[in-house]
Amino acid sequence: MLKESTNTVWHHSSIIRADREVLHKHKSVVLWFTGLSGSGKSTLAHAVEERLHKNGSSTYVLDGDNVRHGLCSDLGFSDTDRVENIRRIGEVAKLLTEAGVITLTAFISPFRADRDEARKGLPHGDFLEIYCECPIETCEQRDVKGLYKKARAGEIPFFTGIGSPYEAPERPELVINTSELSLEESVHKVLDLLLQRGIIKCL
Ligand code: ADX
Repeated sequence: MLKESTNTVWHHSSIIRADREVLHKHKSVVLWFTGLSGSGKSTLAHAVEERLHKNGSSTYVLDGDNVRHGLCSDLGFSDTDRVENIRRIGEVAKLLTEAGVITLTAFISPFRADRDEARKGLPHGDFLEIYCECPIETCEQRDVKGLYKKARAGEIPFFTGIGSPYEAPERPELVINTSELSLEESVHKVLDLLLQRGIIKCL
């Protein structure tokens, strides 16, 4: 981890997370979607966000492809860069949680240790890992962005699932088999989890 900032003093805000949660009428949480490229993370995260937004919740989706246009545009896909990518997202998710927001992150986040680090950065119960489980064959058949084809042709050397590993979660809060469930069914499963955990009170 980079530690170049010295002589800095933490400023305590007079408005705390609990005040913001009262204002938003729901608790804040991080919904951490993980899975292969093309497993449906972004689609599901955005669909859940739409439902929550309609319900009056404060939400924000951090999406892998989008974040890599700005905050993480200096990072590539080596193991080291992926670690840093997920570290930064973990930090941003932490800030948004303090801001009282329901944060939905959609990153491959292939390494278990990095996801566990992000989890550790948040109070117990505030990190809900959602595994978008989908066979690589199905992701490859979908190939929405045409990247699997390029990876098989050797044009993307460290593509997850082909030239780079994906470590599936061992104890995720939720597994969604996106090759079997419809988008609507998947959205319901996530919303049910939020209701069960008392993050939102009703829909
Ligand atoms: S992560 O591994 O660091 O979590 P992230 O979710 O930010 O990845 O970005 C993944 C997206 O980048 C993919 O959905 C795909 O569109 C694109 N991409 C480009 N190169 C690669 C690669 N080598 N491996 C995986 N995804 C890649």
